[in-house]
Amino acid sequence: MSNNLNVTLLDEEVVMADEEFIVSKTDLRGNLTYVNRTFMEMALLNEKQLLLQNHNIIRHPDMPKGVFKFLWQTIKKEEEFFGFVKNLRSDGRYYWVFANVTTEYDIAGKPSGFFSVRRKPPASAIQVIAPIYQQMLQIEKSASSDKAAEQESINYLQQQLKALQVNYQNFAINLFNET
Ligand SMILES: Cc1cc2nc3c(=O)[nH]c(=O)nc-3n(C[C@H](O)[C@H](O)[C@H](O)COP(=O)(O)O)c2cc1C
Repeated sequence: MSNNLNVTLLDEEVVMADEEFIVSKTDLRGNLTYVNRTFMEMALLNEKQLLLQNHNIIRHPDMPKGVFKFLWQTIKKEEEFFGFVKNLRSDGRYYWVFANVTTEYDIAGKPSGFFSVRRKPPASAIQVIAPIYQQMLQIEKSASSDKAAEQESINYLQQQLKALQVNYQNFAINLFNET
């Protein structure tokens, strides 16, 4: 599968350091306006390569569309998003993050962009979430259209969460806390 960095994918994980935070800010369409040093070190990209690019520059093809659809649905409602994301580095390797995305406001109180902080997720959480994402990808591949793909895959995620009797935010937060 293709990726926005046009790199050959390597099935090798790079694990974030315990005490580090990856921080980025975007405009309302997800174009990067700020990245911290840890972001650049993990993605192996510099400010010139990142700023003004869409956040999907580090999108990994193993991530289901449904997760991002759900992210955007949540933040457009000005609600806070929590979730696990597998991201791509410019050397083809990947790193998992536990992401929190919130809305930023201008002085008039209007949404002006988004702010994201990511930490190292527990390995136990990735063991639970990775097979769910894999299943979502399969559902998306066999769907009749892109729109159907996203919806069917979000439905699958919701079903899994219903079985666990939690919503996605709590699911992600609980998984994060179970170390
Ligand atoms: C604040 C913020 C942070 C985001 N962080 C990531 C991220 O770490 N990785 C990622 O793939 N997409 C991230 N996204 C979502 C991307 O903008 C995009 O929707 C996603 O990569 C799917 O790309 P596609 O629509 O081209 O498939 C973020 C969006 C926002 C607003």
